[in-house]
Amino acid sequence: MITIIGSGKVGGDAALFSALKRLDDQILLLDVAKGLPQGEAMDISHMLSEQGIDVKVNGSNDFADMKGSNVVVVVAGSGRKPGMTRMDLLKINASIVKSIVENVKKYASDSMVIPVTNPLDPMTYITYKVSGFERSKVFGMGGMLDLSRFRQFIHEATGHSRDSIRALVIGEHGENMLPLPRFSSVSGIPLSSFLPKERLDELVQNTKQVAAKVIELKGATVHAPGNAISAILESVLRDRKQVIPVATYLDGEYGHSDVTVGVPAVIGKNGVEKIIELNLDEEEKQVFDKAVDSVKGAISGIEI
Ligand code: LAC
Repeated sequence: MITIIGSGKVGGDAALFSALKRLDDQILLLDVAKGLPQGEAMDISHMLSEQGIDVKVNGSNDFADMKGSNVVVVVAGSGRKPGMTRMDLLKINASIVKSIVENVKKYASDSMVIPVTNPLDPMTYITYKVSGFERSKVFGMGGMLDLSRFRQFIHEATGHSRDSIRALVIGEHGENMLPLPRFSSVSGIPLSSFLPKERLDELVQNTKQVAAKVIELKGATVHAPGNAISAILESVLRDRKQVIPVATYLDGEYGHSDVTVGVPAVIGKNGVEKIIELNLDEEEKQVFDKAVDSVKGAISGIEI
């Protein structure tokens, strides 16, 4: 069973995309708001009926119902308002995530947990520490969403099919994210064959800033995060062993320890099955190390 804690727009979309992909027989939407998860589950079920998809989608306000989950997605918490950074949500969401993860530990101690709540990297650290789960079982969704945006910008700039484009974004899911043109391509052909450095630098900046733009225009980001969650769930539940950038706990990798930050990882039925260490150049390493410092600074300010 997939449990999604937080039945707002992103949680609802993640449930919808996961059901449409038939990622599991059962999906549970949990929320503290009375009626919200139940109504969302009914609405999705009515859509599934028309499509003839027999995935059971339920809604509940009782955390005990997550018993038996093999994956728990934590998306509950406050979202950014226009003009805010993700890090501005640190204090308010830290206490929400802490109490949620206590319940995950109590009712779904054999599950894997995928934090989505922002600021993603510190929330992933809290999840890892409070749950006491193995580090391979806690991996935050951030880079998958960022790379979907980087891919869109590469698609727009080159005119090539989205399907031919591979992109990588690591580091912080925030102001210090690190889109990597050197590790991105069009059908394996380096981006530098298509676009000059100045243009690539523009795409990198656009990738960093576009979420705030969407929030300014429509109030929240919904479909891209919902889809990115379902893409990670697919790699886990179908044991696809895709290489996906996720926020996970480092223990010496990239020269850092006791921090959670976005790195490329092999994602399969056992969660983070391998962390892939890239050979970053000086400039890339500086940004990555700045991301680590930013996350460590945030972590130091929270009581876990
Ligand atoms: C975004 C939020 C989920 O980037 O952080 O859309």
